[in-house]
Amino acid sequence: MEKMLVKGGIQLNGEVHASGAKNSALPLLFSTLLAPGKHVFKNVPHLMDIQSTMVLLKHLGCEISWEGSTVQVDVPELKSFEAPYDLVRKMRASILCLGPLMARYGQAKVSLPGGCAIGTRPIDLHLEGLKEMGAQIDVDSGYVFGKVDKLKGAKLIFESPTVTGTENLMMAACLADGVTLIENAAKEPEIWDLAEYLNKMGAKISGHGSSIIRIEGVDRLTPAEHVVIPDRIEAGTLLLAGAITGGEVTVSSCRPDDLDALISKMKESGFKLSIDESSITVHKNTGYTGVDVTTAPHPAFPTDLQAQFMALMTQADGTSVITETIFENRFMHVQELVRLNADITPKTRVAIVRGAPGSLKAAPVMATDLRASACLILAGLAAQGETEVNRIYHLDRGYEKMEEKLSKLGAQICRKN
Ligand code: EPZ
Repeated sequence: MEKMLVKGGIQLNGEVHASGAKNSALPLLFSTLLAPGKHVFKNVPHLMDIQSTMVLLKHLGCEISWEGSTVQVDVPELKSFEAPYDLVRKMRASILCLGPLMARYGQAKVSLPGGCAIGTRPIDLHLEGLKEMGAQIDVDSGYVFGKVDKLKGAKLIFESPTVTGTENLMMAACLADGVTLIENAAKEPEIWDLAEYLNKMGAKISGHGSSIIRIEGVDRLTPAEHVVIPDRIEAGTLLLAGAITGGEVTVSSCRPDDLDALISKMKESGFKLSIDESSITVHKNTGYTGVDVTTAPHPAFPTDLQAQFMALMTQADGTSVITETIFENRFMHVQELVRLNADITPKTRVAIVRGAPGSLKAAPVMATDLRASACLILAGLAAQGETEVNRIYHLDRGYEKMEEKLSKLGAQICRKN
């Protein structure tokens, strides 16, 4: 099984660009099911999750071509409305085919995604929303069976914001009869990006990016072209790689406004940052202090940067209290950081990090999920010696050419079987 070897103690310096956003490209690809014909997406990152999505779309009858970072999806009259378990279990975001299939065909059989390492990840809010829109939804033998003549507009109120729940129901509402309001909608930039593409296809969506999204159903949508927004989580991760090694790193082709919470916490900790409309630079630091962080829905501090920020805090001067409010089990990287000599006390949803500059010592560690793998690589960049990060396949789900990008900044990092 592949592992990553990371040599610590090397300051990273230079410029690196952010790739297209995984969590925008995924719903965009599923949105093609809403409109027959040729859809074109640019700035699509080369990731395992994108490949898994393409396998599912092909299973449903679509034809896909991928040249560089440009993807073309040709959607015929679909032959199948089933997303089988062996495909969905590889990538839980496959649930995003449910809304489009129900909107366009009035039927779907989609495997329940099941839980994952970071939490149970239920989809009850997705299903409740479709029922509110008139769908018959049954769950049996590990599958969701959906049936409806035509979805009808409804007022949907989420008890808590859900990113893919908002995306699924926004797509479903595009072809429904009447107006749908989604209240307490998630406000992540990827939802804004998806709505922009749906509107290019002829949808009538407003309010996206705020907590109330209004969708006026239309009769049909037609394919269009779109450029995927930059990946804010990858950009934040690369910035933290510069920060934890004390170097000066510029992340270009990104959207700084999508990273306000991270930028604010890095400044509070003592980092100097320079920001322009499409890049962020973290300047060399000679020390920084521990700061408290609480994850919450956008625009608050993103849960997908919690593990990476925790790695940084292990090298801060002082204590940092990190609170994870989104997922119930997103501290599996803590014990791995402790193996690297970090001083962290995990509680139920809170981790107390007693930072100590220069305290990390290399050791073999194991990646447990996508963002934990990034966290352990960042820690390896700061640890004395060479850190071995096992189960590195997790990283490939969500980071495009990570070791190439870090090597370009001066890191000594390579894969080993
Ligand atoms: C999306 O997952 C992202 N994935 C996740 O990124 C991200 O961590 C998460 O949003 C939160 O920002 C994609 O966009 C593909 P949620 P999603 O529904 O939509 C609960 C990564 O590393 N909930 O916003 O599955 C849920 O249990 C991944 O790139 C329900 O209770 O997350 C969680 O506690 C990891 N019922 C909270 O809401 C539901 O029906 C937020 O989950 C849906 C969600």
